[in-house]
Amino acid sequence: MERTFVMLKPDAVQRGLVGEIVQRFERRGLKIVAMKLLQMSTEFAHKHYEVHVGKPFFEGLIKYITSGPVVALVLEGANAIEVARATMGATHPAKAAPGTIRADFSLEMGRNLVHGSDGSDTAAFEIGLWFGEQELVDYGRSVDPWIFE
Ligand code: RTP
Ligand code: MG
Repeated sequence: MERTFVMLKPDAVQRGLVGEIVQRFERRGLKIVAMKLLQMSTEFAHKHYEVHVGKPFFEGLIKYITSGPVVALVLEGANAIEVARATMGATHPAKAAPGTIRADFSLEMGRNLVHGSDGSDTAAFEIGLWFGEQELVDYGRSVDPWIFE
């Protein structure tokens, strides 16, 4: 089963939207296999967003993402990477479809509440960066046969 990395950004924590956002992924059927709250250092944020180094929005992004605690999760399920990103909506909230997290709760690209891995290589890199092997919990759910055929 596929795994993806999701992060609730500092605006999600400050606005009291952690429960609401996590619930949307849970209701979709994705299984939480790891979850923690922490505040990123600038050095760690550079590692996480290393693909964006040098882009015009990079410094603003680092300032935003290190401005308060974030909630980091690993989610598991069929097509977890694609499904998590679809549940989040487009990067710019104005372009995100109604019913997605970003459309329903945000307005600006630089305050778009949530991050999700954008491919299998990125997911593997981000899960390894954020979590140790012992933090990824292997368990089954009694409802799994009602979610997975
Ligand atoms: P994320 O990495 O946070 O899941 O978002 P994404 O894949 O949808 O978008 P990405 O291109 O990876 O950009 C990362 C985050 O940087 C901020 N951003 N600002 N002002 C801008 O032009 C701009 N472009 C990107 C957003 O917070 C975006 O989520
Ligand atoms: Mg991205």
